Amino acid sequence: MRIKAPFSYYGGKSKIAHVYPRPQYGLIIEPFAGSAAYSWRHREGHDVWVNDLDPRTHAIWRFLTRSDALAQVHQWVPDTVTAGTKVLDLVLEELADDGLIELMRSEANQGTQGAKGVHDQITKMGAKCWKLRRKMEQVIPAVSTWHVTNLDYKELPDVEATWFVDPPYSNIAGGRYRTGSGLDYGELADWVRSRKGQVIVCENAGANWLPFRPLEHRRVSIRSRYHKADAREVMWTNEGGVDAKDLEPESGRKENS
Ligand SMILES: C[S@@+](CC[C@H](N)C(=O)[O-])C[C@H]1O[C@@H](n2cnc3c(N)ncnc32)[C@H](O)[C@@H]1O
Repeated sequence: MRIKAPFSYYGGKSKIAHVYPRPQYGLIIEPFAGSAAYSWRHREGHDVWVNDLDPRTHAIWRFLTRSDALAQVHQWVPDTVTAGTKVLDLVLEELADDGLIELMRSEANQGTQGAKGVHDQITKMGAKCWKLRRKMEQVIPAVSTWHVTNLDYKELPDVEATWFVDPPYSNIAGGRYRTGSGLDYGELADWVRSRKGQVIVCENAGANWLPFRPLEHRRVSIRSRYHKADAREVMWTNEGGVDAKDLEPESGRKENS
């Protein structure tokens, strides 16, 4: 099974993580981690630091890096589920880790984790795509050494690293996150410009707090398949420009969920 991100997340970059520049440093830091799709893609040969201010998202990361995480998955997560069931009907809330419950909600209600509201009910799509046990058998061993924190991004130390910065967008879609609606983007712009190392910032078209450019400009050999999916994505990097050699060609790559 090819896994594109450790778990499904609202606004997650699982479908387009390959379009951004490759990491140039041994350490990747995601100050706004969500499901950390970029770090997941580049996990081989890299140390990873995932930070998220949202307590429920952080709980998932704390759970995934517990030494008994896989044992808990085997204890609580069924092989198959039925649409309409609630996650809290599957686990004993007082015994299961909060992070495991949130992880099951991500699988139950794809693309909603991180957004406002409680998405406890398993949707038809959630039931159809439910492969959480098998996924976690790959994810948990792969992320066990990742460093996990629950800080405001400004509290992270300025260490030399590849900083993949994917804050909530400064538009209506960004306002749907549980955490982050009060972000000061002017302050964030100064902060990203002051980081040591390589900095990659994600945004949506229309944002002007940095001189963003459309993501597709970087796609030298990538054709129309992605043009619709990420037409409104823009990015900024402190590298100035990106060589074609840093881009991964589309050919030969099949992205499955
Ligand atoms: C766009 S999502 C990240 C998606 C991620 N790149 C992925 O692939 O799943 C933005 C994240 O920033 C977090 N966040 C919002 N404000 C924050 C802050 N001040 N410091 C750290 N994290 C914050 C939100 O909880 C949310 O998980």
